[in-house]
Amino acid sequence: MYEQISHSLLNEILNQIKPDIYTQDLRHFYTRLGANFYAIHGLFAKLYGNRDDFEQQALRLVETMAHKYIERSEELRQLDIDRERDHNWFVHQKWVGMALYANGFAKDLNDIQDHLGYLQELGVNLVHIMPIMKCPEGQSDGGYAVSDFRQIDERTGTLEDLQRLSEGMRERDMLLALDVVLNHTSHDHEWAEKAAQGDAKYQDYYYTFKTRDIPDMFEQSMLEVFPETAPGNFTWDDKMQRWVMTVFNNYQWDLNYKNPAVFIEMLDVILYWANKGADILRLDAVAFLWKKLGSTCQNEHESHLLLQLFKDCCQVTAPGVLFIAEAIVAPSEVTKYFGEDAIIAKECEIAYNATFMALLWDAVATKNTKLLTQGIKSLPNKLERATWLNYIRCHDDIGLGFDDKDIIQAGYDPQSHRRFLIDYLTGRYADSNARGLPFAENVKTGDARISGSLASLAGLQYAIESEDFSAQEKAVKTIILLNSMILAFGGIPLLYYGDEIGTLNDDSYLNDPDKMDDNRWVHRPNINWQKAQKRHTPGTIEYDIFNGIKKLITIRKEINVFADFNNREMIDVDNENLFVFSRFNPRQCNDRVLVVANFNDQPQTLDLQGLTGWGNYENGDVFDLHTRQEPEIFNHTLVIPALGFYWLREM
Ligand code: GLC
Repeated sequence: MYEQISHSLLNEILNQIKPDIYTQDLRHFYTRLGANFYAIHGLFAKLYGNRDDFEQQALRLVETMAHKYIERSEELRQLDIDRERDHNWFVHQKWVGMALYANGFAKDLNDIQDHLGYLQELGVNLVHIMPIMKCPEGQSDGGYAVSDFRQIDERTGTLEDLQRLSEGMRERDMLLALDVVLNHTSHDHEWAEKAAQGDAKYQDYYYTFKTRDIPDMFEQSMLEVFPETAPGNFTWDDKMQRWVMTVFNNYQWDLNYKNPAVFIEMLDVILYWANKGADILRLDAVAFLWKKLGSTCQNEHESHLLLQLFKDCCQVTAPGVLFIAEAIVAPSEVTKYFGEDAIIAKECEIAYNATFMALLWDAVATKNTKLLTQGIKSLPNKLERATWLNYIRCHDDIGLGFDDKDIIQAGYDPQSHRRFLIDYLTGRYADSNARGLPFAENVKTGDARISGSLASLAGLQYAIESEDFSAQEKAVKTIILLNSMILAFGGIPLLYYGDEIGTLNDDSYLNDPDKMDDNRWVHRPNINWQKAQKRHTPGTIEYDIFNGIKKLITIRKEINVFADFNNREMIDVDNENLFVFSRFNPRQCNDRVLVVANFNDQPQTLDLQGLTGWGNYENGDVFDLHTRQEPEIFNHTLVIPALGFYWLREM
């Protein structure tokens, strides 16, 4: 959009811009800057317009984008242009992701390169490598406490290793996703150290206070992320003789985005990793970016403005790069991280679907889909050109973050239902085979989140330990059923390393003083490659799980209605054990797949006549893409095996 005030500011900035920038061929940069500047200026002014140095800061912002564009390789610039042309490229059903630790899945970055073939064998073509930036030697929150945003931790590799890996991945048409930890730095980051030495410039990079007065006011409305291990949101720094805001662990100092210098620094970091070949950047803990007295300091409107601004600026320099919002927040809040308006206020193209994840675990525990169906119906619609990251497990704990209203609507009492789920998933409930661990348990309220690997939560650990073959079969079926859901729902499925071979909880973290207090490490394993080898041996658990998932991935990639064009319709059925939805081709409505999942451990029936548009089917009318067979239909009634599912297509 053209508007005089922002345009004349842009002219002034371009007049002041350094000669080294001016003399470059920046054709594409300038057209994108022109197209985005009205929005950039508006957002930057809303956030920082009351400062005397506003114009100077705006100049620095533009210089940052220009410098990073100049540094962007020809190959990546071409990729940007290709992706601008094919702008829906990432909603295609061909993408299947996996999140992994470089030094867990493999030994380090170089070693990942040697295991790309394994990922390709499974069908994975998007790899989220967990934090790789330099972090403290001891506790580092799994790398989410960053000591240097531009260096790779030497235990993981070097920048050259990453360069080679990203090139190797691009050759294989695989996408690379990396973390950018926007909300905080580690206490030993150079900025934090300078702040601790009394440097006022860097103290203004954080929230630091001489007395407890303001921290105490903040505490009245802030929540606690790690109440057991890091209670409170402030830490006293002896050297600085000040309190510093530390919402996560006491060694993670929250950055102060009220200071535009912080925004510009972090934009530079985002573009730095974009230029290192990341296709996707996972923006960590984005709900926490803006702090306001009297609020929970989560999901503040300004956090959205910051994300819009990051997006608009990234579009100028590296438009082919996508953002993932890591916002594990209430269902009503999460879709806002895609942006409030597709045209003028985009934020992140991809967001974790934590609601779906938690609801799936509810269905496993209750063996019915009352809350799952209700919760998905209440999930607000998302924008076009925005997609979910659908997952069953990740490196973090499972929070039961669904809405109380939905729990009530499903016929439960919120408090006792949550209590039941915690008891079930941690195996305290008599009838449960799950072997999760309570995480961040609050003894006063009974609240807890849950750690544990997919296999252990699904009952495989119990089955193996008790040599219960029927429980083992159920666990494997549950694992495949859950995978069938994230692969069919709409969005990018994100597997978690180790789950594809049924990796159980790993207690070895208890021997490491830097990890023993954080039981999320129970599900951050070192891959046992001998175990993985068994995927080739029929009759083993590894074979069944790996090949079961691989088969589903192969089918997904062939079926175009699995691409995410908001083309899902939830279908009400009269059997509360079933989760039923259809995926359709928006341009051709009879091109569709009916997904029917049975979360009960008994076979269930579905009366097809009760399903608008699907009622006339009899034997031979539909085909199950998964088993490649026609399911038996009798009197318009379909039988779905225990913990089974169908992906049905008309013949
Ligand atoms: C994100 C990460 C989590 C980490 C937190 C603080 O939520 O996923 O592992 O503890 O941010 O950085």
